[in-house]
Amino acid sequence: AQNERDSQYIVSNWAKDHYHRLLQNTEEGMSVGYGYLKERGLNLTTIQTFELGYSLDQWDDLLKSAEKAGYQLKYLEKTGLVIKREDDQGHDTGRRYDRFRGRVMFPIHNVSGRVVGFGARTLKRDDKMAKYLNSPESEIYHKSDVLYGLFQARQPIRNQELCYLVEGYLDVLSLHQGGIKNVVASSGTSLTEGQIRLIKRYSDNVTVLYDGDAAGIKASLRGIDLLLEGGLNVRVVLFPDGEDPDSYIRKVGDQRFTDYIEGQSQDFIAFKTTLVAREASHDPVKKAEAIREVLQSIAKVPDGLKRQVFLQQTASVFGFDEQVIITEYNKLLKTSS
Ligand code: CTP
Ligand code: MN
Ligand code: MN
Ligand code: MN
Ligand code: MN
Repeated sequence: AQNERDSQYIVSNWAKDHYHRLLQNTEEGMSVGYGYLKERGLNLTTIQTFELGYSLDQWDDLLKSAEKAGYQLKYLEKTGLVIKREDDQGHDTGRRYDRFRGRVMFPIHNVSGRVVGFGARTLKRDDKMAKYLNSPESEIYHKSDVLYGLFQARQPIRNQELCYLVEGYLDVLSLHQGGIKNVVASSGTSLTEGQIRLIKRYSDNVTVLYDGDAAGIKASLRGIDLLLEGGLNVRVVLFPDGEDPDSYIRKVGDQRFTDYIEGQSQDFIAFKTTLVAREASHDPVKKAEAIREVLQSIAKVPDGLKRQVFLQQTASVFGFDEQVIITEYNKLLKTSS
């Protein structure tokens, strides 16, 4: 029902404004929330552009304020902003509490700029707490069809004919602030077909800037294959271990960061090759493994001409005769189908 969805958009938009007000107009919001964002290097312009906010460290601030403003509990629950308290048997106790408490709030916009959900970062260092909490799926929020930052990035992506893909909220914010505005985040989950279709509306070229840790590398390998299947041109930048785009741009500054990603970006063949070469460059078994890995990715490319070019490139990178590579490729197709 259209009305149901509209009511959810309206309450989400109100909550976004409420959190944004709290960040700027309350003692706790300014000292804790804004203090944290400042410490992370974010300025007011960025905070305004992304409509960042803060949720008070209380059980029912949002709930009470929403009731006072005349919003129905039903829609606060449907959007996951408020949670039902259940007893041990799972029965509704009739009590309600705020999902987001004492966190920096990142509103998630759809492509038309409407708020559909939130990401929320804890400010406590304590490990028991999940670092990020996100809105649950709802009628207006489908995680797999949203890219964080796309609303702010879509025109820059069009203009530059390139989309940078990062993992996290802070990566988007820091890069945007540093002048790299064609950037979106998959928000930690593995990339989905829906997200890839979204990117494709604006550009055919993607450069993956995932975290320079084992998890980030694994995620980029999976992401690359999906992006290739989607017919996109993919490049990848590897960051030093332990760095993510946000920490790295803060460390080296905007100019050196831009030079780094432009200078270090590799196509997926070079990227996969580098990864395996890192492990064992002269081990013939590893080398054969690396070639097969690359061929598997090439098989995902829908465009036959591009596949041909990639096969030639693989042959030359590994110093093999092209015919040998093509024979290997055809063998691989047979065994995997
Ligand atoms: N994420 C999440 N839930 C978690 C951890 C991560 O949803 N418990 C998502 C968030 O979108 C986060 C992204 O995955 O931004 C990347 O995770 P990570 O690299 O751990 O966090 P950062 O974005 O680097 O955040 P920070 O710099 O604040 O630690
Ligand atoms: Mn504002
Ligand atoms: Mn990470
Ligand atoms: Mn990270
Ligand atoms: Mn980070």
